[in-house]
Amino acid sequence: MKDTRTSTQLWIMNDQDALRARAGKLAAEPAAATSWFELLYQAAARGEATIPWASLAPNPHLVQWARARSLRGTGRTALVVGCGFGDDAEFVASLGFNVVAFDISPTAIDGARSRFPGSSVDYAPGDLLNPPASWRGAFDLVVEIYTIQPLHGTARTAALSCCHASSPPAAPC
Ligand SMILES: C[S@@+](CC[C@H](N)C(=O)[O-])C[C@H]1O[C@@H](n2cnc3c(N)ncnc32)[C@H](O)[C@@H]1O
Repeated sequence: MKDTRTSTQLWIMNDQDALRARAGKLAAEPAAATSWFELLYQAAARGEATIPWASLAPNPHLVQWARARSLRGTGRTALVVGCGFGDDAEFVASLGFNVVAFDISPTAIDGARSRFPGSSVDYAPGDLLNPPASWRGAFDLVVEIYTIQPLHGTARTAALSCCHASSPPAAPC
């Protein structure tokens, strides 16, 4: 029988090693990286792909890091970068932070909102490489997990400086 899937559908359905290799190449091209993430989340919403990094639980290293220092937000602000389906954002909110969480993929943001109805987290689509000016120095804590790591070159440098710029100048990196 003839395979009627498009080439985009075929690479989305590939095994995870191939998907990671593909992601690494695309991540080197900022414009392509942004469209690729949205395509993948859309495919997952249609049941045609899985999101390889979506464990649907807070990152255990984040949890360990927060517990080791008995971290409490006490009304302070936190920004969660590339929040995907929202588990890390919800964890940070549970510590008492006022959380803004964003992702380049509007479909991921829809997923986070519908998984956590009534959440205190302010979920919004957004681009780490083009953040709103109002975020500059506005957050006491910036949580970034696995969003910058696959980027290379100027995209990586720009992403890192956007994260640093979102926290107060005196904050430790
Ligand atoms: C590898 S996933 C990691 C997701 C989540 N932080 C985690 O650890 O499970 C990277 C996430 O960052 C998002 N992303 C990629 N580029 C982005 C950008 N320029 N701005 C905001 N989010 C971005 C993707 O849509 C994806 O949800």
